[in-house]
Amino acid sequence: MSTLLLTNVGELTTNVEGLGDDPADPTGLIRGAAVAIVDGRIAWAGRAGEKPPVVSTVVDAEGRAIIPGFVDSHTHLVFAGDRADEFDARMAGQPYVAGGIRRTVAASRAASDDELRARLAALVEEMHRQGTTTFEVKTGYDLTVDGEARLARLAREVTDEVTFLGAHVVPDEFVGDRDAYVDLVCGPMLEAVLPFTRWIDVFCERGAFTLAESRRILRAGIAAGLLPRLHANQLGHGGGVRLATELDVISIDHCTYLDAEDVRLLAASDVVVTLLPGVEFSTRQPYPDARRLIDAGVSVALASDCNPGTSFTSSQPLMVALAVREMGMTVAEAVWAATAGGARALGRTDVGSFALGARADLVLLDAPSRTHLAYRPGVPLVHAVYRGGELIA
Ligand code: NIG
Ligand code: FE
Repeated sequence: MSTLLLTNVGELTTNVEGLGDDPADPTGLIRGAAVAIVDGRIAWAGRAGEKPPVVSTVVDAEGRAIIPGFVDSHTHLVFAGDRADEFDARMAGQPYVAGGIRRTVAASRAASDDELRARLAALVEEMHRQGTTTFEVKTGYDLTVDGEARLARLAREVTDEVTFLGAHVVPDEFVGDRDAYVDLVCGPMLEAVLPFTRWIDVFCERGAFTLAESRRILRAGIAAGLLPRLHANQLGHGGGVRLATELDVISIDHCTYLDAEDVRLLAASDVVVTLLPGVEFSTRQPYPDARRLIDAGVSVALASDCNPGTSFTSSQPLMVALAVREMGMTVAEAVWAATAGGARALGRTDVGSFALGARADLVLLDAPSRTHLAYRPGVPLVHAVYRGGELIA
């Protein structure tokens, strides 16, 4: 049995309501805390010295804050090349258009497995160094039957949370016949990716897929046993929210533009809204109003959307800082959204908190409180990262 006690923790965010100094605090914050890990799982979390757990190894956190490992529930990590030129053009006043995806498709189709694997490994390491211990990865940068299966297989090498996004954009060879492409996605492509995937997603947006196409594709995925999630309301209003609630998707992502009826529908549902502020940062769009969603009672998650077009960053600490500064979230809400919220957006109960038996994924911050994540933006504050009780960064 391997046991570890992290003690002298300045501030422990447990995300267990009822466990914290304030029983009503959903982030279960304990000051002057300790946390015990047995065989890679959380065995105990509480006030330091309150209960003397039997442990073989003791680590002195020296007053640092500890939070659960970040859960990044939305990324597009398998691709080749980059699109820095498009970023330059946007910063010179051009708008973002979904069609840029086709350039990454061309680069990714041309790359070997090893090239894609090396890029993926580098991004995964980058995430670990910034405290991310669970992450989702989407396909969507090949858009052929064999190619999407290849991306799904490579993604599956680094995570259990693989999403089929054959409906990312209609590829060049099908622009004249969209229906044939949707048929392909719902039929042979879906079948080819199934052994590697848990989720189905659609980019439901002007320039990508219509509501009717999105409904058909999500239904095909659900019928094949996949869990649904959706990209919607990134570039404008649309019926994405109604579709999301109609199909009971686990998470609707982006939601930059929402009207009052959208917020009402979301509040009446169990759908998680995953906000992706890296996109607004990198496309110069207005940030979504997280305050309005939270005040209406909606569950909000924060994710990086790491991709070469609209958000080439894997940094959850940056998402926390942007959410606090630009989206009306408190630090507590943003840290919860980037950890427990991400777990909820992936339907996971074993990560995102220090509940008894949770996987021991922890981030030690080089700071006395989690507030520093937003208060000291851009500063590398991650001191150490444990995943399943093992030091990974
Ligand atoms: O989440 N919205 C769709 N997919 C990405 C953009 C991908 C790209 O531009 O390459 C996103 O923003
Ligand atoms: Fe995305």
